[in-house]
Amino acid sequence: MRKNLVFLGPPGAGKGTQAKRLAQELGLMHISTGDILREAVKKGTPLGKKAKEYMDKGELVPDDLIVALIEEVMPPEGGVIFDGFPRTIAQAEALDEMLSKKGMGIDAVVLFDVPDEVVVERLSGRRVCPSCGAVYHIKFNPPENDEVCDRCGTKLIQRDDDREEVVRNRLEVYRRQTEPLIEYYERKGILIRLDASKEIEEVYQELKKVVGA
Ligand code: AP5
Repeated sequence: MRKNLVFLGPPGAGKGTQAKRLAQELGLMHISTGDILREAVKKGTPLGKKAKEYMDKGELVPDDLIVALIEEVMPPEGGVIFDGFPRTIAQAEALDEMLSKKGMGIDAVVLFDVPDEVVVERLSGRRVCPSCGAVYHIKFNPPENDEVCDRCGTKLIQRDDDREEVVRNRLEVYRRQTEPLIEYYERKGILIRLDASKEIEEVYQELKKVVGA
């Protein structure tokens, strides 16, 4: 059966890094609301224009926009890793409803557990490729050639919302609006806690174990 997985956790916990690899290995679709929104901002679409004002401050984009976006990209047969979605109780309820209409559900919610100081270190060293979206870290996952993408040769940049003051607000927003989802999914009996503070490879091996891959 094709699994539907949710990756939950604070900004910079490593959700995207692990989701890309696991999705490829298991043949699942990787849906990252952050990536979709950044693409919309880059293209200057109406969604991108609306989303940018929230993203620049580290605030969440309104639920109705996010739910509409998910409805648009969701494959009918499932088999998805949701990365950075849902982020509010309202989004979680909308996802439950969307999946149950298709006779599906969420198989597991993986909580990427990392302390705040690790988050800050990971986000301050993150570099991304503005062309192909590859993600690096200057210390933990550096490109082969200084500040240039291994895949496409484009000069790497720092994400606008990885500035220190925005990171602090993203962490607060996470505590206030997203953390309540931990209890929401715990009550459903599908929450799995993962120690995401270890090295990338170790986290990946542990992740595969906990999701039964
Ligand atoms: P989004 O892009 O989803 O940001 P986020 O949740 O804050 O997550 P990040 O992408 O920052 O981190 P990550 O956990 O994927 O870590 P990564 O793998 O890159 O959202 C951005 C914005 O969009 C939000 O603020 C909001 O405005 C809006 N938005 C998005 N979804 C929304 C929604 N559902 N509702 C409303 N608004 C929404 O890793 C981080 C760094 O650490 C990298 O440099 C990586 O190389 C490195 N690294 C990863 N793992 C390890 C490891 N194990 N050891 C050492 N380094 C590591």
